[in-house]
Amino acid sequence: MSHIYIMHVKKAIFPVGGLGTRFLPATKSMPKEMLPIVDKPLIQYAVEEAANAGVEQFIFVTSRGKSAIENHFDHSYELENNLLTKGKRKTLASAQEMLKIPGSYAYVRQQEPAGLGHAIWCARHLIQNEPFAVILADDLIFGQSTTKEMIKNYSSGNMVAVMEVDKQKVPSYGIVKVDNNNKDLMQISEMVEKPSIENAPSNLAIVGRYILDHKVFDILEKQERGSSQEIQLTDAISSQLGKVPCLGYRIQNERFDCGSKIGFLQANISFALNRKDLSSEINNWLKTLTR
Ligand code: UTP
Repeated sequence: MSHIYIMHVKKAIFPVGGLGTRFLPATKSMPKEMLPIVDKPLIQYAVEEAANAGVEQFIFVTSRGKSAIENHFDHSYELENNLLTKGKRKTLASAQEMLKIPGSYAYVRQQEPAGLGHAIWCARHLIQNEPFAVILADDLIFGQSTTKEMIKNYSSGNMVAVMEVDKQKVPSYGIVKVDNNNKDLMQISEMVEKPSIENAPSNLAIVGRYILDHKVFDILEKQERGSSQEIQLTDAISSQLGKVPCLGYRIQNERFDCGSKIGFLQANISFALNRKDLSSEINNWLKTLTR
């Protein structure tokens, strides 16, 4: 009898140290990751996706001005007491649903926004010799099952989530070249961060979900700044190709780039249309717009 061995990935890193400049002025004093999709901040969707995948330790790489994230995952005694006194049990439950057993959340500071690769490296002391997940909260994917599916398909090395993007958008992404583009799990042979349209090896873009081998920290340690003068995670994974295999996992559900205004607006409408308590009202209103 053959058994499928599923690797247990216990830790996830949430890099939330970026400046969110595409979303100014909203993100001047508020973390981008606290922007709500309907009534839940982006970072809560990300944490729920990780928990749904069996993750037990949630590591946030934060920066100055991001304390709202820490507070969101903690008690708010004044609010909870108020709701309790008023007997608003359902509302109280929604204010408490992100509390986890003590020690589940860890925070480390990235002192300067030196790039995604640098943010991940800042969490190196919190990861032992084990694979770990990385979730970018502003890449919101319907269903909150992507990380779970990736872990199910992971055995060793590195894995990145990918999706096809319009050719014009290629210069905004890490782009991969794969050997078998017709499959949902692909062997990656080349990877380049933000290529020009002419130099892009394909239009398969990396989106914000990764399962990484801890050896990536050794590479990041010596990593030079790359595109946008930032330490790029793509460059670190790319430099391991040939030694450490890297799989591309084609995401199965719709994804929204909530770090961009248009992606954020689309996500809010799509998620509202999927909510029992909101769908008919929002649907009726949308119809009035197209009349
Ligand atoms: P983005 O490039 O989407 O985020 O990085 P950003 O830099 O905050 O946004 P813009 O481009 O200025 O609008 C993807 C993720 O990586 C994190 C971000 O917080 C985001 O979740 N990140 C990025 C860091 O944690 N540190 C960095 O130095 C850069």
